[in-house]
Amino acid sequence: MIGVLASGEGSNLQALIDAGLPVTAVASNRVGARALERARAHGIGVACFPLEEFESRAERDRTMADWLEARGVRLVALAGYLQLLTPDFLERFPDRVLNVHPSLLPSFPGLHAVEQALAAGVRETGATVHLVDAGIDTGQVLVQRPVAVLPDDTPERLHDRIKGVEHRLLPEVVRELIVQ
Ligand code: GRF
Repeated sequence: MIGVLASGEGSNLQALIDAGLPVTAVASNRVGARALERARAHGIGVACFPLEEFESRAERDRTMADWLEARGVRLVALAGYLQLLTPDFLERFPDRVLNVHPSLLPSFPGLHAVEQALAAGVRETGATVHLVDAGIDTGQVLVQRPVAVLPDDTPERLHDRIKGVEHRLLPEVVRELIVQ
C-alpha cells in the first residue's frame, strides 16, 4: 500500500493514481492543497497535519506516521511535499520513503530547482527519483531522466516539460519497489 505526501498541486499524485497503483492514503501539511481534492475525488483517505497544530515537528511526524501505518502504508512517496521529515519518521519506513525532484541531483537541490537550472545556464536538467534521508534532496538516487533546456525557456515551460517526465518516472519506480 502506498502513502503519498503532497503540499500542492498533486499532479504527481494524479500520475500514480492514473497508473493504477494502490494509493491508499494521502497526507498534506496544507489544508488547501489541491492534491487532497484529487485524492478525495478518487475515494482515497486524506488527512492534513499542519505544523502549527502540533507542539513540534517530531510530534507532527509521529502522528502522521501512525496515521499512514494504520492504513497499511508500506511505501511513502513524496510528491511535491515541501517539508523535511524527522529521522524518526524515516526509521518507521526504512528505505521506503522516496521523493521526486525537478533536477538531475546532486545539481540544484532544494527549492526553485528549475529557476536554479535556468540561472546556471545549463543545457540539460531533468527529473530524479531518490530515497529520502534527513538532508535536503541528498538520499540515494534511484533513477534520473534528462530534459533539454531550450533557448526561450521560462521556468513555467521548463517545469511543465520536467513534470511530464516525472509523471512517467515516479509510477515506474513505485511499481518496481512495490513488487520487490
Ligand atoms: C514536482 O516538480 C516535484 O518534482 C517537486 O515538486 C513538484 C510537485 O508537483 N518536488 P505536483 O504537486 O506533483 O504537481
